Amino acid sequence: MLHIDRCVCTDCTFEELKELAAKKNLDFRALSRASGCGMGCGLCTPYIKVMLATGETVFTEMLTEADVAREVRNAKSNSQRTPESAT
Ligand code: FES
Repeated sequence: MLHIDRCVCTDCTFEELKELAAKKNLDFRALSRASGCGMGCGLCTPYIKVMLATGETVFTEMLTEADVAREVRNAKSNSQRTPESAT
């Protein structure tokens, strides 16, 4: 089983990146500039984008840009639900 939890080019975990993004209120571009993540091979880019949308920091499958669009859309949809409509 895959266990994808970091940018291997910088050895930054998604958990560390999540904390940095939250602490400094960074979007993907700003987080990338601040950490260097996504600026090497770029393979971590879809994972970081999904992490920023969902809070997820460990992935067990490969993600594509299509997956990113779907996950971001789902996260936005879920955040707009009221507690009553989520049940
Ligand atoms: S894995 Fe993040 S830039 Fe290569």
